[in-house]
Amino acid sequence: MSYRVGYFVGSLSSTSINRILARALIRISPDDLEFSEIPIRDLPLYSQDYDADYPPEALALKDSIRGAQAVLFVTPEYNRSIPGGLKNAIDWASRPWGQNSFDHIPAAVIGASIGSIGTAVAQQSLRGVLSFCNARQMTAPEAYIHFSHDDFAEDGTVSDPRTAEFLRSYMAEFRDHIQRVLTVLPRDEPSIS
Ligand code: FNR
Repeated sequence: MSYRVGYFVGSLSSTSINRILARALIRISPDDLEFSEIPIRDLPLYSQDYDADYPPEALALKDSIRGAQAVLFVTPEYNRSIPGGLKNAIDWASRPWGQNSFDHIPAAVIGASIGSIGTAVAQQSLRGVLSFCNARQMTAPEAYIHFSHDDFAEDGTVSDPRTAEFLRSYMAEFRDHIQRVLTVLPRDEPSIS
């Protein structure tokens, strides 16, 4: 049994360190996780005016999340919060009202920063948003990555053994979290009310 993980990279930068981190996570994750990126770049800015007729980019976003069994957020911190592009994508996915794509989905949050707090404040903010969206978040371990190009190659190879081991255990925990959540009640089955 393998699990399909859709991942968001919260940065649109062509030199994103979070994209490198995402590559590293995919390289060292358990074999039974399959990854596909959920792109956010081409989404227009969300407005409720679209709710009756979502544009193709937003329908594709919701389709991608529907096709995933779990979601992973790999994000920078912008001004002590969530980058606007990522928040915009979450707003699209959470709507129209009653069609929240994140309902009960297993989720995890991680991020890399050049600063020493390693996106901790952005992750707290993102956790609050995902909580409201009713995602089933992995609460531990937390992962605040202080990024250095000495430790990460562009292709996601991690040269620092302690960092590599930490990321490996983080992804192993995420895999177990996904299994735990989906074993209790698979997402596509109606909940007991
Ligand atoms: C930053 N950066 C940053 N870093 C941080 O640790 N806390 C912060 O609040 C911010 N704020 C911030 C705002 C804006 C608009 C930018 C462009 C940058 C620095 C940030 O960590 C650095 O640019 C990373 O390289 C961003 O990640 P990506 O885009 O490379 O993945």
